[in-house]
Amino acid sequence: MPVALITGITGQDGSYLADFLLAKGYRVVGMVRRSSTLTFSRLAHIQDEIELVQGDLHDQGSVVSIIERYRPDEVYNFAAQSFVPMSWNQPVLTGDATALGVARLLEAIRLACPEARFYQSSSSEMFGKAREVPQSEETPFYPRTPYGVAKVYGHWITVNYREKHDMFACSGILYNHESPRRGLEFVTRKITRGAASIKLGLADELRLGNLEARRDWGFAGDYVRAMWLMLQQDAPNDYVICTGQTHSVRDFCQAAFDYLGLDYRDYVVQDQRFYRPAEVNLLVGDPQRARENLGWETEVSFEELVQMMVNNDLELLERKTASE
Ligand code: GDD
Repeated sequence: MPVALITGITGQDGSYLADFLLAKGYRVVGMVRRSSTLTFSRLAHIQDEIELVQGDLHDQGSVVSIIERYRPDEVYNFAAQSFVPMSWNQPVLTGDATALGVARLLEAIRLACPEARFYQSSSSEMFGKAREVPQSEETPFYPRTPYGVAKVYGHWITVNYREKHDMFACSGILYNHESPRRGLEFVTRKITRGAASIKLGLADELRLGNLEARRDWGFAGDYVRAMWLMLQQDAPNDYVICTGQTHSVRDFCQAAFDYLGLDYRDYVVQDQRFYRPAEVNLLVGDPQRARENLGWETEVSFEELVQMMVNNDLELLERKTASE
């Protein structure tokens, strides 16, 4: 039975990847930080099938002993401070976890189990003020936030361990990927939760920031498949993972409210509080390498994604109000 270690398993991607790997017959081990407010809600349905172990990317020793103990075949790194605007409030913490955390994990693998295959979650935020449209694996980075800067470090340290230490280390440059398990602070989930609340009479407006920002939004369930495929190849490489299509925040609002028979213009209020100091206006990727080398394609369209998220939020809110 192959063993996979997932850091950040309590998050959206960790939980989808755990589902995927369990279905493939893996033994799935998740590294979790001790915290008084940890949420395992995304793992509730598989809690008896996975193993959780306490460790922290801030603590080198804890990571080394976990790698020594489980000797994983594959390591997937999702642990990070992942909310972009927060990185302006906590730039040092973001750098420590999102950048140096990758180096600590790579060091642990090099010391304790160098044959393990490694996946690093890199981000399209590394392109930031994008030098070209669409972006590919060859596009130069121009990060615009402490988060983006930290991810650039994580990307390059992964490439360097591959080249210097001959490790099977891959960096997936993922564009925004969403799902019903998305955190409530990210714009897509904020919109679907807000629209569902308005539909049920629980709210009468939705306050957002910049509606003109454009992103390449895909479904997280499709994206974890690409990560796994990267680690099954003969040679490690870096891959842009995206749909190749772009929509604005306004388009997302329109799709979500339309689906509920509402006009978003009656409810969405633009609020300066949610604008960003250095906005990334347009991100859209070119998925050609992933298509050709991995045979990877998306299965869920933009409209299906919006509807899946709206349906989930309607259901959750209906259940919540019924139980109150
Ligand atoms: N969060 C949020 N809240 N974003 C808003 C709002 C709002 O009220 N109003 C407009 N936006 C705009 C933001 O300004 C941004 O341009 C866009 O919506 C998307 O914001 P997020 O959903 O917060 O995602 P992100 O693009 O900053 O980052 C996500 O994708 C990255 C990959 O490109 C995160 O998942 C990152 O961790 C990931 O690396």
